[in-house]
Amino acid sequence: MTDNAKFQVPGKDGEYPVLEGSVGPKVVDIRKFYADTGMFTYDPGFTSTASCDSGLTYIDGGEGVLLHRGYPIGQLAEQSSFMEVAYLLLNKELPSKDELDKFMWTITRHTMVHEQLATFFRGFRRDAHPMAIMCGAVGAMSAFYHDSTDITDPQQRMIASHRLIAKMPTIAAMAYKYSIGQPFLYPDNDLSYTGNFLRMTFGVPAEKYEVDPVIEKALDRIFILHADHEQNASTSTVRLAGSSGANPFACIAAGIACLWGPAHGGANEAALNMLREIGTPERIPEYIARAKNKDDPFRLMGFGHRVYKNYDPRATVMQQTVREVFKAMDVKDPVFDVALQLEEIALNDDYFVEKKLFPNVDFYSGVVLSAIGFPTAMFTALFALARTVGWVAQWNEMISDPAQKIGRPRQLYTGPTQRDYVALDKR
Ligand code: CMC
Repeated sequence: MTDNAKFQVPGKDGEYPVLEGSVGPKVVDIRKFYADTGMFTYDPGFTSTASCDSGLTYIDGGEGVLLHRGYPIGQLAEQSSFMEVAYLLLNKELPSKDELDKFMWTITRHTMVHEQLATFFRGFRRDAHPMAIMCGAVGAMSAFYHDSTDITDPQQRMIASHRLIAKMPTIAAMAYKYSIGQPFLYPDNDLSYTGNFLRMTFGVPAEKYEVDPVIEKALDRIFILHADHEQNASTSTVRLAGSSGANPFACIAAGIACLWGPAHGGANEAALNMLREIGTPERIPEYIARAKNKDDPFRLMGFGHRVYKNYDPRATVMQQTVREVFKAMDVKDPVFDVALQLEEIALNDDYFVEKKLFPNVDFYSGVVLSAIGFPTAMFTALFALARTVGWVAQWNEMISDPAQKIGRPRQLYTGPTQRDYVALDKR
């Protein structure tokens, strides 16, 4: 039993219940704060605010811990598959062999997109960013799958979730194919989720495509590492959009839009571009100096995290994956040396040490995705593909919660107070 938290505000004292989760910081329940005191709390960026309760993902940023339904990310990345993690996030428990087979069969049966959706792609410019196409194509899915947009029906919610997970690789691969002027490939349901995506991306109809098992495994692991990450900006966007009762396809399109930003999912693209711009280890000090200069807006992309103030556990797995892929593909890319040396220099620099700025998952994911053959513009689209699992699981959790309400933050108003309108000829 935890004592209530006591607040003293001018002219009013209040007591508020303290809630305890299964692990992690306690939470003061301030839902009645405004009604009691007439005041709002102020927390831009939600650095101290829990917006929901959730049983999906736990992060201890100080300790560098990331758990999905209790399982450490390192164990999942090493021992499970992306489909298992998807099942786990959606259904709370790891699947039995039969449950996994059935789940994979279901996902496989939804991999094709409506044929008319393909015509949407042809309306985009060839040089459109894949994330621009993803926002549009995923949002447009609401116009095609009407039989899974009744959010009050759990069965329809699950069908929509399966459709989104299954069709995202097809849509991402189509965005890529369109950008290089090659024909779209239909899914091949004999392949794994990740193998199918590789084929739709890198295969051509004129030739048989052999999936390389090392690449397949590495990409599957990257998908696992990006599957969910608690109440980050894009997940909160999906929840906020969904809180109004919007359909799941529209909500996930909103999540994709938010993920695109360079401070979030766009960081892997920005990190690789930065490593290529640095080019050689000799130029690293110049960039470190820029990152430390208060008058320079430049930040070391792939460093720092809102929550992890210790090593990002996903970055550890990713660093290992880079080595495996480089060895298997015999890649010799100077960008990897730049990355390794930049990491070492930054980790020993007082500025980065004091501010607890460690490499995050994106620091290495760009390097490995580039080695596999993905252009930088596709990196965030791959992140969106993987994160769709987390988004739909979080969205389902929210909609099934009887305490769920439309999200409606408050504000500290700093604009003009009431004044009278002045006619145009008097201004
Ligand atoms: N390079 C240089 N300085 C930095 C960096 C960086 N990458 N990140 C933070 N700082 C400094 C920042 O200038 C500030 O300094 P001061 O206290 O003197 O003003 C201090 O560290 C704290 O920064 P903050 O912006 O208050 O921290 P935050 O928790 O709000 O920001 C972040 C987190 C991820 C937005 C930020 O670290 C950043 O912009 N990193 C680069 C972009 C990046 O790699 N993003 C990927 C995040 S991981 C993928 C995901 O989960 O979405």
